[in-house]
Amino acid sequence: MRRRVILLGPPGSGKGTIAARLKTEFGFEHFSTGHLLRQEVAKDSAVGRQVGLFLERGELVPDELVLALVESTLAKSRPEQGYLSDGFPRTLVQASAFDAWSGTRGLAIEQVIYCESSEELVLSRITGRRSCVACGHVYHATFVPPKTVGRCDECGGGLAQRADDSEALVRRRFQVYLRETEPLVAYYRAQGNLTVVDASQSLEKIMARIEVMLRQ
Ligand code: AP5
Repeated sequence: MRRRVILLGPPGSGKGTIAARLKTEFGFEHFSTGHLLRQEVAKDSAVGRQVGLFLERGELVPDELVLALVESTLAKSRPEQGYLSDGFPRTLVQASAFDAWSGTRGLAIEQVIYCESSEELVLSRITGRRSCVACGHVYHATFVPPKTVGRCDECGGGLAQRADDSEALVRRRFQVYLRETEPLVAYYRAQGNLTVVDASQSLEKIMARIEVMLRQ
């Protein structure tokens, strides 16, 4: 099974939800740069103080800060476990820097899964999204509800709406995505390791397709 995997797609296209399912079912070593950055802000660390405003405005955090965070995260993991990245790389600079860094460590990307989604679909998904304040696990009030209202199934933590999930900020994040991140689709397609998934399908259909693809 391919175990060095990148999930690429606009905000709200389902990357975090797919990552959580792959982690539970196959033990993937998952990391989300958005979750790592929000943790730094919550801790009020030096990094958190630098990145808070970017997150509040729906803008991308500078490449050098994100690359340092990802490299230190992966340096702590066991290489044979691979990785499942949700939300990184997000710029061409991040993608080429990560190719160079991972290539020299035997950690080159094996599969990129592109979750293709329209702006209107992601808006409808994000409006109902609730995330666990403790572990980051993601739910949807209607489509993916928790077993107990307001409580995380995984850790019992409280559920909340993310500060950057207002309609205005989601629309801005989508524009940032089109400008900065969508060019990665062509970048990875040229490398021959990109698969497109229609993110408007049910989670069951999406997972079935991804599982087949990762086992090829
Ligand atoms: P980040 O946390 O990565 O947010 P994002 O990419 O905008 O993506 P989201 O987490 O909003 O959505 P998702 O695709 O994971 O969808 P989800 O599974 O939740 O980044 C936040 C910020 O951090 C950025 O704006 C930036 O400032 C900074 N940042 C992060 N990484 C960075 C980087 N590399 N470089 C620079 N800055 C960076 O699903 C959405 C909803 O839909 C949920 O409620 C879910 O339950 C539901 N759902 C999912 N799939 C389905 C389905 N198939 N059917 C029905 N409902 C579904």
